[in-house]
Amino acid sequence: MSLIKIDLTGTDGFLSAGDLAGECTCALDALHVLKDKTGAGGDFLGWLRLPQNISAEEIRFLKEVACDLSNDIDTVVVIGIGGSYLGAKAIIEAVSHSFDALMPHRSHPLVLFAGQNLGEDYLTELLELMHYRSCACVVISKSGTTTEPAIAFRLIKKHIEKKYGTKEAQRRMVAITDSSRGALRGMAVKEGYRSFVIPDDVGGRFSVLTPVGLLPAAIAGVDIEALLAGAQMQMESSLMPVFDNASVQYAAVRNALYKHGKRIELLANFHPKLHFVTEWWKQLYGESEGKEGKGIFPAGADFTTDLHSLGQYIQEGQRFLMETVLSVLHPEKTLQIEASDEDADGLNYLTGKRIDECNKMAELGTRMAHIHGGVPNTRIEIPRLDACSIGALLYFFEVACGISGYMLGVNPFDQPGVEAYKREMFKLLGK
Ligand code: PA5
Repeated sequence: MSLIKIDLTGTDGFLSAGDLAGECTCALDALHVLKDKTGAGGDFLGWLRLPQNISAEEIRFLKEVACDLSNDIDTVVVIGIGGSYLGAKAIIEAVSHSFDALMPHRSHPLVLFAGQNLGEDYLTELLELMHYRSCACVVISKSGTTTEPAIAFRLIKKHIEKKYGTKEAQRRMVAITDSSRGALRGMAVKEGYRSFVIPDDVGGRFSVLTPVGLLPAAIAGVDIEALLAGAQMQMESSLMPVFDNASVQYAAVRNALYKHGKRIELLANFHPKLHFVTEWWKQLYGESEGKEGKGIFPAGADFTTDLHSLGQYIQEGQRFLMETVLSVLHPEKTLQIEASDEDADGLNYLTGKRIDECNKMAELGTRMAHIHGGVPNTRIEIPRLDACSIGALLYFFEVACGISGYMLGVNPFDQPGVEAYKREMFKLLGK
């Protein structure tokens, strides 16, 4: 059973039934190539079976390390960038309390991130904060040589060693990297850090269901077994060679719209907790498809917030947009609007309605307005904002991305363009 539902009715006026059926057939062919590992990048498909292949032993070790880092430690700094950052951030934000950092009586450490930028103020201020907290660090880099996380790690390692001494620092440092290659593996072995391996056949942006996403999530109190269970449930339907496979339909519809001149896909959510799922999705699709002069540009919006900033453009600007709305069937909390005696704000017509009813009407109204304005709309629905649903959603997007990249005729599993800025930067820095 697919936990993820897809509704394509908002593309009816933009695509013919024949357009969509033709793209669905191509998408099924691409799914076949993906599963058989016969396409470009076929040796980077270890993520396809991750939800079922992760061993009970690895889950036990992940939970053990997470538990150990929760005992006397109140802050864990997770260092990483790109695929070694966005998945963990997406999961934690999606399922945690919105004000987790400020809540009293926390049962797990605060997870902060570093190495995802080179802001001098950001790093200085993080180190300032670390003086007042009991800290540990999880450093994540598949290559083990990426500059931004390496710089952050050098600073944070020094801080932790100075504050706690080398022996205790060893306990407070965990590395997640390649099994043998790269400077980080060398350091982990030399310093005796606990470590996890990123499998060779899993690329950075597809690594969210490895320790890269799972360890930070477990530290933040996320139920990682529920996350994996959701991904596994979705795996069973996203790999089915049938027309009503939601991953197949999503890949098909976005490629059909691309052929009709829709060059930008706006992934819009109606829950602030999904902001970083969008950020993760932008990397997944941008790095997988944007090559050889092709690809849909992935953009994101947080609604209703951005309806008051981007809304005008979406409604009436250039018509190169397709919109995909991420919808949540049941939020985790319930809140009703109460009657007011004076009705000074004129809102009594909403008495008894839940906030989510207003949100759902905002979603429906937005979709209708944008479709009328010439923006085709695809709706993706997840059951809840919980670990199981998020696991399913991430897996759903990964499979659709592999299919979509093959439909576009590119290798979805390499990222040659990412090296260009590094070459220029290294030259300028005198490496
Ligand atoms: O998807 C990718 O491969 C990249 O975005 C990487 O995740 C990112 O560049 C970080 O690389 P690394 O984990 O080697 O430090």
